[in-house]
Formats: sequence, C-alpha cells, structure tokens
Amino acid sequence: MAEKKPIKITETILRDAHQSLIATRMTTEQMLPIIDKMDKVGYHSVECWGGATFDASLRFLKEDPWDRLRKFRDGFKNTKLQMLFRGQNILGYRPYADDVVEYFVQKSAANGIDIIRIFDCLNDLRNLQTAVTAANKEGAHAQVALSYTLGEAYTIDYWKDIAKRVEEMGANSICIKDMAGLLLPYQATELVTELKSVTSLPIQLHTHYTSGVASMTYLKAVEAGVDVIDTAMSPFALGTSQPATEVMVETFKGTPYDTGFDQQLLAEIADYFRPIRDEALESGLLNPKNLGVNIKTLLYQVPGGMLSNLTSQLKEQGAEDKYYQVLEEVPRVRKDLGEPPLVTPSSQIVGTQSVFNVLMGERYKMVTKETKDILTGHYGATVKPFDPEVQKKCIGDAEVITCRPADLLEPELDKLESEMAQYKEQDEDVLSYALFPQVATEFFKYRQAQKTKVDPNAADTQNGAYPV
Ligand code: CO
Repeated sequence: MAEKKPIKITETILRDAHQSLIATRMTTEQMLPIIDKMDKVGYHSVECWGGATFDASLRFLKEDPWDRLRKFRDGFKNTKLQMLFRGQNILGYRPYADDVVEYFVQKSAANGIDIIRIFDCLNDLRNLQTAVTAANKEGAHAQVALSYTLGEAYTIDYWKDIAKRVEEMGANSICIKDMAGLLLPYQATELVTELKSVTSLPIQLHTHYTSGVASMTYLKAVEAGVDVIDTAMSPFALGTSQPATEVMVETFKGTPYDTGFDQQLLAEIADYFRPIRDEALESGLLNPKNLGVNIKTLLYQVPGGMLSNLTSQLKEQGAEDKYYQVLEEVPRVRKDLGEPPLVTPSSQIVGTQSVFNVLMGERYKMVTKETKDILTGHYGATVKPFDPEVQKKCIGDAEVITCRPADLLEPELDKLESEMAQYKEQDEDVLSYALFPQVATEFFKYRQAQKTKVDPNAADTQNGAYPV
C-alpha cells in the first residue's frame, strides 16, 4: 500500500465561500454558534478573516471586524485561523506605507490570526516582502499566494521561477490562488509536479467552482502531491465558491489521502448552515445564477465576480447590449496593461477601462485614474511591458517609476492616528480607519451612538440627536 499522506483541508465557509456567494454578508452572530463543532473537525485551518470580510463588516453589518476575530480566537481552541491579505494594499485598494502594513500584520497576529495568505495582483513580489517579513517577526505563518492566470507570459517556467523566489523571500508555504477557476485538472498535475520539483515548501491549492472543473482539479492536484486544498461546507459550496468539503472528504476515504474527518460531524455542521443558505436564496442575496456552471469564465478568462461587476456597470449605463463587446475588450486591455492576472484590484481596473473603451466608441478616449496609475508603475511591475502607444495616449510624458511603489511613501501611521483620535476606543481602530476612512468613521459614530442609547444619563445630554 502506498505511503499515507492525508490531504489537509482549509475550510472557507467563514470567508471566501460567503464572500463569493452572498456578498460577504454572513454575520458574526450567525457564525458563532457552530464554531465549537467546526473546531472538532480537524481542519488544517479555517479561513475566516480578511479579503472583503473587513470592509463588509464595517460597511454593511455595522460590526467591528477585530471583535469578530477575537470571538473566533476564543471559540477555535484547536484550529488555526487564516486570513487573506492583499500585500502592500492590506485589505484596501491602494498601496500603504510600510509602517501601516507592519502594524496591521502585528495586530492581526495579536488578535488571533495564525496563517496569513498574502498575494499581489501583479505577482510583483516586492509588494509582498514587507508583509512576509512582518509575519515572520510575529511568529505567524506567512503563505505567499501566486495569483494564477493564463497568458503568453505565464509559462511553467514563469511559475517555477516565482516559486523559487517566494521560498527565498522567507515564506512558509505557497498557495496557487486560482480565483477564476481556470486551472484544469491535467494542468494541475503538471503545475503541482513542476512546482514540487523546485521548492520544498508545502503547496496549497485554492480554486473556485465557477467553470465546473474544480473538484476534478483538486483530485489531480492531490494525486500530484499538493499538500492542502481549500473547500467549503456544502450549503455554501459550488458555483462561484469552492468544492464541497464533505465531497472531497468522501472522495479520499480509504485512500492514502484519507482526511480521517467524521462525516457525521460534517453533516451536523452542514445542517446548521443550510437554513442560512435557504434564507439567502429566499431574500435574493444568494442568486441561483451564481450556483451554476459559467463556462464564459473559461472562454474569456474572467473571474466570476468580475463578470457580475461588468453586468451591473453596463446595466447602470443602459448598455447591456454591449456585454459581449466588453468581454472581448477585456483581454485586449489586459494585454495593453502588461497582461496582469485579474484579481482585486487589477480586475476592477481592467474591467472598468474596458467598459469605457467600448462605451466611448474610441479606445482610451477616457482613462481612469487607476489605469494611469498602472501605466506609471504605481501598482508595481507587470510581467509583460505595457503597450507603448497606449501608454503614451493615457499618460503622455508623465514620469514612470520602476522602484517598489511603497518606497515612495512616507510613514503614515502618526498622521492617521491624529486624524481619528476622537473616535479611538482600541489600538486597532486606526487600522480600520487607514483602510476605509469614511466607512470606518461612519462605523465609529454608529458605535458611539449605540453606547449612548443604553446609557440614559448620556442620552439626556444628546439633546434628542438620536431617535428613540
Ligand atoms: Co478565492
């Protein structure tokens, strides 16, 4: 019998699964009652923080994301907690100075994060170094995620080279982050085998079911020696989310990859989440469209989330008939901009510019600030050069930088501290403010108002400012 190598599982239902299917709207209150059972499964880790959860908590749920993390830490006594981190952009959409990145990593670890998955939308490793070094310093596990994509530049040699450099920079593991579900089963065999030949770091695979191939891709990747896969409990699996945890567990039962997980326990956890799914279907929060196979994602190599963004942008402009024209424009714009992977924020930048190019009837007649920022090097280096004519038309003779973009940023923590001092109730508040200044300020005001409500003496002094 072959040597035993149980496949490890990262459960995504508390982060990516509900981000992908219900716009990140699961509340802490909905999550907490099931944590005790999830903690008994034996997961390698539970991904539960970062990505869009931070923004959505503050903006839509009126929850403090730090408080959610501390509650997870209290509840998960045996399971590692994992987060998703956008390199120098942290959880926001612009590059931050190193002091903010370092402080964010420090506070994430202090509040309970064990594994930090760090990626950059251009795979420019210079944008990851500060976060990786900070994670090392805090004793957290630094996982570097390669934003997986297809294109001329993305050869097996490209991925092998980047994996070697990731190992050299001090990462503890590598993740192949296939946000669009583009990695096909037999390509997974090749990619995992080749990466294993150049690095001794553990390799994790993250994909989405959008194009319908994900569980087959996992099967081939596991056979090729991948160490960890990302799955979601069945009520929030499939479609634009991950393959189902129970299905992958059952698939490897009795093989050298057997997880040893208890299906009865998994069934109880699924029973808990099913009514939340039903409720989301009923309210329209969960769109059945997102549950099917979207083969366009393979044809146009566009992530599921980006497809739905394009649809809504065109709808707003009353130009839904231009959908296919825009889809065909996306790969052209991507090429003009140096063929970046399409993941936050490059997906939004390429998508919006493609919409403009089609709607204006002339390419790059109207150019977004973000397109200009890419073309001046402010997001970092792309794998291919920019199209020189497009660059000229968009930015003229503006200066183009080639250094690590954050090298041009002055430390900004002190300034941020002074701007939000009046709202500060905990050290972490400055980080919420740094990422989402307006949204966090609204939240801080809401938080204060809530306190006033339950304190009758304080309410008197508010002069009826708050409705009762
Ligand atoms: Co994902």
